[in-house]
Amino acid sequence: MSKVKVGILGAGGIAQTHVNNLNNDPRVDIIGIADIKQENAENLAKQTKHAKPVGSLDELFELGVDTVYVTIPNTLHVDAVLTCLENNVSVFSEKPMATNLADAKKIKDAATKSDAIYNLGMNQRYAHVFKKVKGLIEKGELHPYVAHMKLNRGELLNPAWTSNPEITGGFFFETPIHLLDLSRYLFGEAVTVTCEARQSISESELDSFTILLTYESGTIATFVTYAHSGWSFPFESLEVYGKHSTITTKDLDHVMYSPGLNQKIEVEEYFDVSFADKWGYVEEDRLFIDSLVNGSKQPVSAEDGYQTAKLIDAIYESAKTGEKITLSEYKKELETV
Ligand SMILES: NC(=O)c1ccc[n+]([C@@H]2O[C@H](COP(=O)([O-])OP(=O)(O)OC[C@H]3O[C@@H](n4cnc5c(N)ncnc54)[C@H](O)[C@@H]3O)[C@@H](O)[C@H]2O)c1
Repeated sequence: MSKVKVGILGAGGIAQTHVNNLNNDPRVDIIGIADIKQENAENLAKQTKHAKPVGSLDELFELGVDTVYVTIPNTLHVDAVLTCLENNVSVFSEKPMATNLADAKKIKDAATKSDAIYNLGMNQRYAHVFKKVKGLIEKGELHPYVAHMKLNRGELLNPAWTSNPEITGGFFFETPIHLLDLSRYLFGEAVTVTCEARQSISESELDSFTILLTYESGTIATFVTYAHSGWSFPFESLEVYGKHSTITTKDLDHVMYSPGLNQKIEVEEYFDVSFADKWGYVEEDRLFIDSLVNGSKQPVSAEDGYQTAKLIDAIYESAKTGEKITLSEYKKELETV
């Protein structure tokens, strides 16, 4: 069987993680690494068997790639992804899908028309702690009546572009997107959202959010996220409450399940697991390559990514207007086009 010919667009921090995973997958041949900085492309290409360092997406196409990992900064994703889909080249796009809803819709439509596969990189769904939470909810061990979520970032300093909303699309597209996406994965689609937000430290954007959410499972939830907390741990936590039962996570290291009154508490810890495995990157890459090789469903489709993009768009809108937003009514005009 011929190998999947992979190209990487953007040879920075997250590309390194994907290249490490893909180097370990015998079904994959990384044939090209593109970056506007030649040195970055060359350095990452050296870590593969024989990838050619190049300067652009077009040059990756010329090499004959089957799929491209889009790992360039946030607001650059849309053009690159659309070009791949229009050329029937499958694409793994790093988050965010897009930084506004109209662009997310363009990708959703292009993915429907294309013969190629679109996948969005929402790695935390495959982190061990969240697979445990998902399993407990799916098996009906705990019905999630109430949830309390927090995902802070320590700083917007590294990479330097993360402080520039022209490049990130806004803080929410950088870090909080992960737990927000997970909340949909765990509790079903959001029904309503209300947000209060502030510009506390940043010179250019909202960096502090408190959000109230309701979901189709009936879950009611709070979500707090702040961009400048320093890297004190835990920066990420989830608490889910059922009938006399609780699940809590602390970062991607620790998950606790208390099944009921006077019952033994289960604890799982992942301190010793490698970074890429613990954070779900190993599994998301394997599942994406599975979808190309076996035709199985990709981890996060364009339709799925669109729903998270819509929720973030609604959060910013609620922050601006102070209104509670009903998602089924929100920007409906986009969906009829
Ligand atoms: N899923 C996750 O957990 C996760 C983690 C980190 C980053 N990301 C996402 O991955 C993307 C990249 O982040 P990063 O931290 O690797 O950034 P980075 O700054 O380390 O790397 C970006 C690379 O893209 C290159 N680049 C910029 N514009 C380009 C262009 N037009 N064509 C080709 N190359 C270009 C830069 O030279 C750089 O080498 C971002 O969208 C980010 O949100 C996701």
